[in-house]
Amino acid sequence: MKDLQYEFGMVGLGVMGRNLMLNIADHDFSVIGLDLDPEKAAAVESEAGESKAVRGTTSAEEFVRALRKPRALLLLVPAGKPVDAVIASLVPLLEPGDIVIDGGNSYFPDTDRRVVELAEKGIHFFGMGISGGEKGARFGPSMMPGGNREAYERLRPVFEAIAAKVNGEPCVTYLGNGSAGNYVKMVHNGIEYGVMQLISEAYDFMKRGAGLSDEELQRVFQDWNQSELQSFLIEITGAILNQKDEVTGQYLVSVISDVARSKGTGKWTSQNAMDLQVPVPSIDMAVLMRDMSKYKEERVEAAKALPNNTLQEPINESRQELVDQVRNAFYFAMLATYAQGLAQLKVASEAYDYGLQLQDVAKIWRGGCIIRAACLTDIRAAYERKPTLPNLLLDPKIGEDLLERQGDLRHVLKMAIDRGIPMPVFMASLTYFDAYRTETLPTNLIQAQRDYFGAHTYERIDQPGTFHTQWN
Ligand code: 6PG
Repeated sequence: MKDLQYEFGMVGLGVMGRNLMLNIADHDFSVIGLDLDPEKAAAVESEAGESKAVRGTTSAEEFVRALRKPRALLLLVPAGKPVDAVIASLVPLLEPGDIVIDGGNSYFPDTDRRVVELAEKGIHFFGMGISGGEKGARFGPSMMPGGNREAYERLRPVFEAIAAKVNGEPCVTYLGNGSAGNYVKMVHNGIEYGVMQLISEAYDFMKRGAGLSDEELQRVFQDWNQSELQSFLIEITGAILNQKDEVTGQYLVSVISDVARSKGTGKWTSQNAMDLQVPVPSIDMAVLMRDMSKYKEERVEAAKALPNNTLQEPINESRQELVDQVRNAFYFAMLATYAQGLAQLKVASEAYDYGLQLQDVAKIWRGGCIIRAACLTDIRAAYERKPTLPNLLLDPKIGEDLLERQGDLRHVLKMAIDRGIPMPVFMASLTYFDAYRTETLPTNLIQAQRDYFGAHTYERIDQPGTFHTQWN
């Protein structure tokens, strides 16, 4: 196989890179991988076996020489400086027309900078979010590529072959210009934060507030995964709650520290939403709760100083009624969280000239990725009915789903408030809905206050222009 011109190149043979290479090879494309670690380069060859056109090398020259032109190479190295370092080492060996794809969770402005830098050399640079973790990489991820549309044609056959499929449709498509792919993946992760937090709030409410046992909770999540809540995150929660700890024999989740970590993509989503002035309160609150979790020592102290004496208030509903109410509340809050992320994508697409089609985004999120969920079929249908939909909440079918369930969400939140159980993402999701559908918000008063103390002026509802009043 020495003289073979390889169809595709992978740079960085860690968990994701190695598994993607094996996935590519399974679909009968030849693939060569580059890693400075000779063990990793050798391991991927032996794992693929003799019958597959898979090669590993530690030599950048050999790697570039062995790639079919125009070359297509995917970097799977940690976001930030390592990406720039790898680009700097490879670019002198590349030629105009070649395509470099960054498959990491890169910060989207970095991608825009790299697109411009590489374009000066005639090289196409793609930022491509890849979701699905190790298993997804091996057996079918969701992939979110952005870059030059014509250049995408060189990548399409490989990407469509290796992506997850839903009803035969691959969970990958060209998304848009520049950093569109990284931006969509960033918002995917923001929604991921929101839904993960919603699941933990529902779990907390049912466990501490309603006294469901661990076994009951396992069944709840397993049942929910057979309902309209069917999704990867609900599915894994059922499995997680079932897992016993080998050391203590207790359920593993009960011995895991509640201090959450994060790599930053959720925070970027919130930060950029604020820059664009798009409200995404459910995502903001999810980021905030990870921050709150870090104050462990203070929370331990506060739990003693400010005891919660209302936790054991009796619940009037039967178990089944209560679980059904939480399920409806969850569905509402989940839809509202997706709505916020998609609204952010709509504004970002205009601000950054991405040319995103939200029906395509929903389509490729239906499989392979962490936020894959049955409701994405409805979400996709909503944007197919009306690609210019200003907000998912305005789709008649989604609106009906929300109106049907709002009563249960309000009821669950009242019970949580009475018992002192924090459910901030449920609350933020309801508030988002209530604010969005309010014709006249009390922001008229804010305008008056600004004019009162700072002469900032205001607009009137009965005539055009800006006004200032000498307030008494
Ligand atoms: C995915 C995940 C993946 C990763 C997150 C975790 O789509 O496969 O989102 O990208 O697990 O980056 O993010 P935090 O470390 O910020 O929770």
